[in-house]
Amino acid sequence: MAGCHACDLAQQRTQVVSGEGAENADIIFIGEAPGYNEDRQGRPFVGAAGAFLDELLASIGLTRRDVYIANVIKCRPPGNRDPLPAEIAACKPWLDRQMELINPKVVVTLGRFSLSRFLPNEAISKVHGRVRQMGNMVCFPMYHPAAALHQGSLRSTIEADMRRLSEIVKELESANAPDRQDDGGRQLALF
Ligand code: URA
Repeated sequence: MAGCHACDLAQQRTQVVSGEGAENADIIFIGEAPGYNEDRQGRPFVGAAGAFLDELLASIGLTRRDVYIANVIKCRPPGNRDPLPAEIAACKPWLDRQMELINPKVVVTLGRFSLSRFLPNEAISKVHGRVRQMGNMVCFPMYHPAAALHQGSLRSTIEADMRRLSEIVKELESANAPDRQDDGGRQLALF
């Protein structure tokens, strides 16, 4: 991935920001694209939005080391503009491969670009904080943490969705607990 030239973003990036965290994580958080700080440091979510993401994780007793954090596209768009459809398409094989290798149980999409990668045609305002079965994993859409930095009223919504995520993870754990295996495990109550 570090030498990828599949789209023009390769020309302006400082480096590819592949992602970080536990390679066997049960939960993957997928944001949009690296910003200025991420491009410099080569790590996802290290700026202001990342500080809020760290806080959100801590609020449910997790750290970055317990999960995996990646982005839909791996190189910074100039001026932090929205990713272009061609850039998302060029980067798709990388995210697909990460999903295959990490094989998470829960995919948390952060923001609309990440949501549309997994649940195209859904509006984030409608589906955030609600779980959806997706093959052998579940998808849990959330607003992007940066949205709360621009629109303060979203902060409590994101915090509430994070608490819901924690409940879902616990439900999944108990559904997969050994004493429930006799009935083949239980699926989550879905919306
Ligand atoms: N926003 C994102 O979507 N990803 C990052 O890595 C940083 C900010």
